[in-house]
Amino acid sequence: MERDIKKIISEMTLEEKAGMCSGEDFWHLKKVERLGIPAVMVSDGPHGLRKQTGEADHLGMGESIKAVCFPAACATASSFDTELMYEMGKTLGEECQAEDLSILLGPAVNIKRSPLCGRNFEYLSEDPYLAGKMASSYIKGVQSWDVGTSMKHYAANNQEYNRMSCSSNLSERAFREIYLPAFETAVKEAQPKTVMCSYNKINGEYASENKYLLTDILRDEWGFEGYVMTDWGAVADRVKGIVAGLDLEMPGSGGFNDAKIVATVKDGSLDEALLDNAVERILKVVFSYVDNRHPEAVFDRDADHEKAVKFETECAVLLENNGVLPLKTGAKVVYIGEYAEKPRYQGGGSSHINSSKVSSALETAKSKGRAVSYVKGFPFDKDEENEEELAAALQAAKDSDAAVIFAGLPDVIESEGYDRKDMKLPDCQNKLIEAVANVQPNIIVVLHNGSPIETPWADKAAAILEMYLGGQGVGEATDKLLYGEVNPSGHLAETFPLRLEDNPSYLNFPGDGINVDYAEGIYVGYRYYDARKMPVRWAFGHGLSYTEYKYSNLKLPTEILDDNNCVKVTVDVKNIGQMAGKEVVQLYVSDKNGTAGRPVKELKGFSKVELQPGETKTVEFTLTARDLSFYHEGLGDWYAPSGTYVVLIGHASDEIALTGEISFKTDKQLPFFVNGATTIGELLAHPVTAPVVGQMMQNMQEAMGSMQGEEAEGVADALGTGAEMMEAMMKGMPLKSLASFAGAEVAAQIDQMIQSLNQALGNK
Ligand code: BGC
Repeated sequence: MERDIKKIISEMTLEEKAGMCSGEDFWHLKKVERLGIPAVMVSDGPHGLRKQTGEADHLGMGESIKAVCFPAACATASSFDTELMYEMGKTLGEECQAEDLSILLGPAVNIKRSPLCGRNFEYLSEDPYLAGKMASSYIKGVQSWDVGTSMKHYAANNQEYNRMSCSSNLSERAFREIYLPAFETAVKEAQPKTVMCSYNKINGEYASENKYLLTDILRDEWGFEGYVMTDWGAVADRVKGIVAGLDLEMPGSGGFNDAKIVATVKDGSLDEALLDNAVERILKVVFSYVDNRHPEAVFDRDADHEKAVKFETECAVLLENNGVLPLKTGAKVVYIGEYAEKPRYQGGGSSHINSSKVSSALETAKSKGRAVSYVKGFPFDKDEENEEELAAALQAAKDSDAAVIFAGLPDVIESEGYDRKDMKLPDCQNKLIEAVANVQPNIIVVLHNGSPIETPWADKAAAILEMYLGGQGVGEATDKLLYGEVNPSGHLAETFPLRLEDNPSYLNFPGDGINVDYAEGIYVGYRYYDARKMPVRWAFGHGLSYTEYKYSNLKLPTEILDDNNCVKVTVDVKNIGQMAGKEVVQLYVSDKNGTAGRPVKELKGFSKVELQPGETKTVEFTLTARDLSFYHEGLGDWYAPSGTYVVLIGHASDEIALTGEISFKTDKQLPFFVNGATTIGELLAHPVTAPVVGQMMQNMQEAMGSMQGEEAEGVADALGTGAEMMEAMMKGMPLKSLASFAGAEVAAQIDQMIQSLNQALGNK
């Protein structure tokens, strides 16, 4: 049905239009009955429906309907599986249609800057490429049911401490390369119906009134077509927000801010056309939902629970395994730790789901008749040692063939609203793991956490299985993986450092409450650990399997990549083990041109492939100029110098199997203005100025060569005798200093040269 939205707007009063730009209540937009505009509902998100029909809140405290809790983003990102993201999104989209929800508030795509961020469990990755691709697929899935998404929290919202006011201070380059691309990719590939702006400031300006963010970048550069809503309560100056491109205020201010909009339009300080634009963007999305309802949609909680189990089996990451896994059916096993009975499977806050049912590993094992005994060992909700429980755990471990310890972070440690203080598991758990390891070599640690933890006992564990916050089907999924019904195939979407202090944001997290400086710049996650050649516990992309894969036949393009074309890279991957499995093939690129300040390598492709034993598949990747580029602040654009780039293919960021080189040629010219501060080295590095300055240098050398006796010695003394030192000094010499050494005549020539070089460069 085609709606004439402009006509509807022309029939709205000023008050109705202002009213349309804020919520009626916590979860509804406003209706205008006489014009056929209904009050549509939005709901959290992202990994299940938190539809509140009674008391409303945005902290996950009040009741919501029974729904299915899927694995949180920390887990789903580890699947490295875009199809899984699509399927999960699609399932959620159907649930929304069945529950009459027009927008699902997700995905949350903020970058994991520090392992301490309380909301890391809801976020995808430390890597913007992975986060962007996974978010796109999720959005496409949800929106395939004509339900909108709200990609959040835009932008640079990477901590919970003072999240509502703190200013994230960062360079344009870090913003563009690390913190924006996940949003950018998803906007360009999947057009989320809405984007949710964050609470925080960016370099001193609130996201909700930041025109650069909400209009210049989001709409003008990336082509976003939907509407921008606030995070709940994120409005600062409402009128400035309208001008900046903020459309909808949630949950609304009871009409207070609407009145300001009305007043400023009336007194002429706010252009009514800007208000009309906002209303038009909101109504387009409202009607795209209203006019595309799906009466056939059902919310089948049982069927979706089974999907939650299946998804989680694809997400869990096998971190270590000396061969103890998969467990043999019939082996005498003890499960230790209360998470075996009461798994931690979701985080706290606005994403909290009232789960339709929750499966535990223990009840699953019992229902399958496995030879499993159970000792509580430690509680699921606090750090409390218990000597009797410890003794029972040790005895049971001794009496068994293997001990599976279900460890994790209690709910209170990890939630929206605050950050973690450290990266540790509760002491009672660490102690128990160490003690059990001393009496039973076959210990398997199963982890339930939303963000990396320190694992001082890692070398003593025979196997470690990271389930993350795996959703309500986590227990069944754990069972399937432990006993080899499913082969683990997750890979880490984040680095596990050995200790918190190794993390690049350590000295600047979470800031002083007013400002947080992203001083590490682009060196986030593996970009930092790689550059520092720093040992980590588990690297980005790491993940084991019950089978093995072998890479061969890397085929690189013979043609040169340029600013406009794209090239293909293919590689063969073979399952050389005995069990079917899924491998995540990862492609990284590396700049070989000596460009300053570039990461050692960056992820630019990944693909998950299913392989039967002995089977080989060819995986294809496409590379474009953007994949090789960094954000050049001077140019105000993406840039890669012409030259050579290495393509690295591997199983993890620290397990590269094959490498090869490709060539790139760009037509982009970097801006270059010559003045007194320009150094000889800079001039020699630029193709336009190099010949002129090279000639000048040669003339000077010849002049020095013709010097005799004391005069020549004097110059040599002044400049140093080593050729390398001489060269280094000359390259670092600004033109103004050269002029002051060389006397009036040369100074005048240099002045003249500056003018002609700028002319040659096309500078005005
Ligand atoms: C969160 C959002 C959430 C909103 C509504 C806020 O506190 O930051 O992610 O969508 O509440 O519950």
